[in-house]
Amino acid sequence: AKSWGASKLTFTPIDPVHHAVDGLIVPEGYTWEPVIRWGDGLFPDSPSFDPENQSADSQAKQFGYNNDYLEIQEVPGSNGRRGLLFANHEYTNENLMFPDSTDEATRRAVGMAAHGMTAVEVVRKNRNDAWSVDVAGSRNRRFTMHTEYTFDGPLRGSELLATADDPEGVSVRGTINNCAGGLTPWGTMLSGEENFHGYFVSAGTSEADRRYGITAEATARGWEIDEPRFDARNAGHEHEKNKFGWIVEVDPWDPESTPVKHTGLGRFNHEGATVIIADSGHAVAYSGDDARFEYLYKFVSRDTYVEGDREHNKTLLSEGDLYVARFTGNSPAGEIDGSGAVPSDGAFDGGGTWLPLLVDGASQVSGFSVEEVLVHTRLAADAVGATKMDRPEDVEPNPVTGRVYMACTNNDERATAGHAGVDEPNPRAKNRDGHVVEITEQGDQTATSFGWTLVLVCGDPAQGDATYFSGFPADQVSPISCPDNVAFDSVGNLWISTDGAPSGIGYCDGLFRVQLEGEDRGLVEQFLSVPAGAETCGPVIRDTQRTAFVAVQHPGEDGSWQTPQSFFPDYVDSDGDGRFAMPRPSVVQVLKGKPKRGTADRRQRQ
Ligand code: FEO
Ligand code: CA
Ligand code: CA
Ligand code: CA
Repeated sequence: AKSWGASKLTFTPIDPVHHAVDGLIVPEGYTWEPVIRWGDGLFPDSPSFDPENQSADSQAKQFGYNNDYLEIQEVPGSNGRRGLLFANHEYTNENLMFPDSTDEATRRAVGMAAHGMTAVEVVRKNRNDAWSVDVAGSRNRRFTMHTEYTFDGPLRGSELLATADDPEGVSVRGTINNCAGGLTPWGTMLSGEENFHGYFVSAGTSEADRRYGITAEATARGWEIDEPRFDARNAGHEHEKNKFGWIVEVDPWDPESTPVKHTGLGRFNHEGATVIIADSGHAVAYSGDDARFEYLYKFVSRDTYVEGDREHNKTLLSEGDLYVARFTGNSPAGEIDGSGAVPSDGAFDGGGTWLPLLVDGASQVSGFSVEEVLVHTRLAADAVGATKMDRPEDVEPNPVTGRVYMACTNNDERATAGHAGVDEPNPRAKNRDGHVVEITEQGDQTATSFGWTLVLVCGDPAQGDATYFSGFPADQVSPISCPDNVAFDSVGNLWISTDGAPSGIGYCDGLFRVQLEGEDRGLVEQFLSVPAGAETCGPVIRDTQRTAFVAVQHPGEDGSWQTPQSFFPDYVDSDGDGRFAMPRPSVVQVLKGKPKRGTADRRQRQ
């Protein structure tokens, strides 16, 4: 008997799905509905989606591309009938978005408008119904590259943020490559600016440029052609690149609010950030830097949380201390040989230290000013000797236990020539399938030391991969590879969405539940599988309502407009031309029971 606590989201796990299957597969007894798709209107005057005649203006009034982070909050007083959906739009796949006839300038302009974020109200008649979009919602809002953001924290007003467009160094237009995120305890959204470096051209010769991967090559999207600020070689725009790579806080409840980039959390490829209020009352934010051999960071607010004082709480991420993690293994180094074999003490585990970068407003890094710590955070973390991890993706505290979970998605360069070797927290050479770290702070979340253990070392035991599932029998778990986003249900089970499984274990990416407590700790069960070419993002688990949501990103990514690999989510030949509709990144709701909108025919391409 499996012990799932009080979770009402019971299911029989699905079998893994071959990577070429173009379908969203859910467990027996469940169905799914798209809530919103790329190109769907957000306002009463939004133009209908017309993929062969797109414009920046139409895209700016429609849901953007590649939804990643997702949250849905219920509107107070609506009896659960109205919700506020927030999603970010990480990047664009121009090869899938446009027919050959679309010119390059239009592709750039539409692509720019398809980046950013969306807040939109959703409604349902009954709690058991799927949500649908209300274009008349008073909080509906699109954030594009033309939206203004303000900076706060120690770097606000710094010369390192000053540009021709903003000589004061206090604001910027746009947010880029927003990946994961988090809901704060005060109801705002955090979103991480991840691979911002790919949007900038620079001389590429400085230590910082090299460390952040900014080069003199033309960028893939070519925005520097239209806006000189994307080329740091242009006079007056030298510091524009410093305005990206931050954690953004958005208040979706106030559509007039100016979103904030918090400089106190440092600048790097933020996967996202999630906040927990420690027993001491401080807000603690965890954030991973998603690149090979990068670090895990923690921010501890200077001020403390005040229940009910939302305006005060919205300032908590402005000032505080910044740390980076050093992990130490407790097994003899010789036992960590790169094969993934479990060491003799039965676990990949040990202790760790939060190394200070910035404390009480003062730099703790020799040779670095406060400004340099925050704008060149990777260099500061190098200097203090942080532990190089296998691509830290989402990091989230478990709201039930307070322990912290970090997905290390993969690292094909671990222990290869010229790169760092294996260690106990990153125990496999050429780590194809990734692992999940569990962190137990020694004290509350403001502690400066912690214990850690790997909950999962991912892979497919049936294919002979060296895996570890906290001691749970490997022949009884769903195969899992490349953990990316983590979430929790109401009773503290861990849910993991994946990105990259097709090229590893050969199955489509999916969503998995992992038991953390009791004799079933380490049991992995697959809940759904996304279509060919897609990654699974933004999982939101509402087990008390027997429902879950995923953001399906880049369905059919390896195809093209001419030769589609996926037709998700519509799977209908609406105009009768013998071809299904094009793939569209979408937010999907999974529900118990039968489909209610006559969508049974579009659940999977036959
Ligand atoms: Fe955008 Fe780290 O995934
Ligand atoms: Ca050990
Ligand atoms: Ca991600
Ligand atoms: Ca990823």
